[in-house]
Amino acid sequence: MKVLAVANQKGGVGKTSTTVNLGAGLALAGHRVLVVDLDPQAQAGTALGVNLSGEDQLARSLGWALQARMQNMRIDLPTIMFNRGELLEDWDGGGTLHLLAGEESTMSAAQDLIHKKGYQATPVLRRMLMEIEDAFDFVVIDTPPAVSSLAATALAAADHVLTVCYPEYSTLKGAVAIRGTVGYVKDRTGGECDPQYLGAVLNRSSAPSMMKAQEVNIRNGVIEAGLYPFVTDIRKDDRISGSYAYGEPAVLRFANHAPGKQYARLMGEVLTRIDQPVEKWETPEPIATGASDE
Ligand SMILES: Nc1ncnc2c1ncn2[C@@H]1O[C@H](COP(=O)(O)OP(=O)(O)O)[C@@H](O)[C@H]1O
Ligand SMILES: [Mg+2]
Repeated sequence: MKVLAVANQKGGVGKTSTTVNLGAGLALAGHRVLVVDLDPQAQAGTALGVNLSGEDQLARSLGWALQARMQNMRIDLPTIMFNRGELLEDWDGGGTLHLLAGEESTMSAAQDLIHKKGYQATPVLRRMLMEIEDAFDFVVIDTPPAVSSLAATALAAADHVLTVCYPEYSTLKGAVAIRGTVGYVKDRTGGECDPQYLGAVLNRSSAPSMMKAQEVNIRNGVIEAGLYPFVTDIRKDDRISGSYAYGEPAVLRFANHAPGKQYARLMGEVLTRIDQPVEKWETPEPIATGASDE
């Protein structure tokens, strides 16, 4: 099992979109996938068609499970997972798709509890996932847009960390910060957790011929900052945002259209990098500045 976390302290960059589309894309390609929603806003659940409400549903929330686990209760994760296999029923690739769903009040309470206990508590999710490591090929974790104990918990759980940028400077800064934080996790968890940085997804990009100077600068900035962007970027596309409302990721709803193809290519690059040393990672060439104007 490989655990991927998608992180950036900045909100609205496309973490949730990337998480659910990579997760669903991996399932479509035949893998056994678990999407984990660690953001109190619980949007990954929404994007996969699950919204928790009511008492009995809260008992199935990941926030509740994290709290219980920190109070030394035994938690059987498979009993609270949501099987989202129905999203794959038009395909028979042999993959599976499950979700550990979040909910705001329970996840915020879990966040407070982890915060109080400090860094030594951050491996809690990793320990829970390791108990089910034979059941899944990939876990993809969606994270909150903040420097928080939950974000630290997500990084601690991960084998590989992806960040996401879109054409705005603050997203580049947020990505650089994540890259730095990933490097501290091993020390902060006493060697128990050791995530590796895997690269930056360039999201909401324009076609090269339509790129304005700022987008070119940020794109080149991502390369210069050592963030290792993937060659495949994800274009700005209403089909990606629109798919949220349907609870069906664009990679499935528009599998044979541009969004589906881009996410499939990105997934291929992610899988290749996981197996390669950083020296072999393919990155895009910088774009010559001056070639495009406002
Ligand atoms: N490539 C894209 N094209 C168009 N809209 C996008 C794209 N990526 C994300 N969005 C939209 O932008 C908003 C923020 O994306 P989201 O994935 O929720 O970001 P985050 O999880 O980082 O806050 C959402 O409404 C989403 O549907
Ligand atoms: Mg999000």
